[in-house]
Amino acid sequence: MKVTIKDIAKECGVSPAAVSLVLNNRDARISSETRKKILDTVKKYDYRPNRLAIGLLKNQTSTIGVIVPDIGNIFFAELCKGCEYEARKHNYTLMVTSADEFPADNLRYFNALIDQQVDGLIYVAPSNIDNQTIHSICSKITQLKIPFIAVDRALDFPFAKSIVNDNIHGGYIATKHLLELGHRRIGCLTGPLCNQTSSDRLKGYQKALEEFQVPYDASLVLEGDFTATSGYNSLAYMRGCDASAIFCFNDMMALGIYRAARDYKLKLPEALSVVGYDDIFISDLLDPPLTTVNQPAYKIGASAVLSLIALAQKDTSVDSVVFTPSLKVRSSTAAWDAARKESKQISCV
Ligand code: RIB
Repeated sequence: MKVTIKDIAKECGVSPAAVSLVLNNRDARISSETRKKILDTVKKYDYRPNRLAIGLLKNQTSTIGVIVPDIGNIFFAELCKGCEYEARKHNYTLMVTSADEFPADNLRYFNALIDQQVDGLIYVAPSNIDNQTIHSICSKITQLKIPFIAVDRALDFPFAKSIVNDNIHGGYIATKHLLELGHRRIGCLTGPLCNQTSSDRLKGYQKALEEFQVPYDASLVLEGDFTATSGYNSLAYMRGCDASAIFCFNDMMALGIYRAARDYKLKLPEALSVVGYDDIFISDLLDPPLTTVNQPAYKIGASAVLSLIALAQKDTSVDSVVFTPSLKVRSSTAAWDAARKESKQISCV
């Protein structure tokens, strides 16, 4: 039988209110002996307050909901770690749900967290989010007055604050790096192009090509899905297109290319330069360490929680944030020249 606050109070000969005051460190008027007796009894029965009951009483559950498309993607795992750090620091519990990039029912995950009475919601929209879903989310958070932050993928409804990175700049600096190394046949492995982070990175790719007066060749652009599998499957196609470098729109797909390069006995970066995006922690542990566009997932997650808590405290100064990504040059990219191409005809079976 679960011990309740009344059981604790009865055993200590005090009121439930006295137990609550001690548990919430608001026990100024309670003697140290009584305080010690209450804490010892709580420990004896391993009593844990009923969060849901408290939530109903206080209309607050001290819980923050987070929805990400794929917790298996290290970028989102690192983002959630940043959320967890700040949530814990402010005595909130995090409730994370991994929805998928293309969920069958977008609202299912959102409604599940609302039903749990979360005090605020951090939302990374899936790639297939549609206007009807956005409208439903918008009206529900307005009606329930729930603090809401869109992360990584902005949502175009009037008051939703968002924390994103400048994806056009990210795509531009990645591609410019390869152009400066002499690459002219640069494969571009995108994420889902219905996702604005991907379409913006592609704009950055095109902007750099234009700046270097390299014609845009659509045959060098392949749509991936942010998974390592799509990275693996892209290599044969890109080699068939005579690409000397590949810009991947996230590190997970770059991991897939590394695996395929090993299977095809292609030495990186001699045979092929690879650039990723996200700078997840294992990018630096790869052989060769991956050149990638850094977007601070942990910091983005932590900032999202701080903004959410400020919104909950009716702080009207909270605004959207756009992080400027930077290029982390490691050793998966190298200079390319036509002479070298002649000397190393590497077939890709
Ligand atoms: O790795 C997942 C990708 O989806 C990241 O680049 C992030 O920006 C998200 O949009």
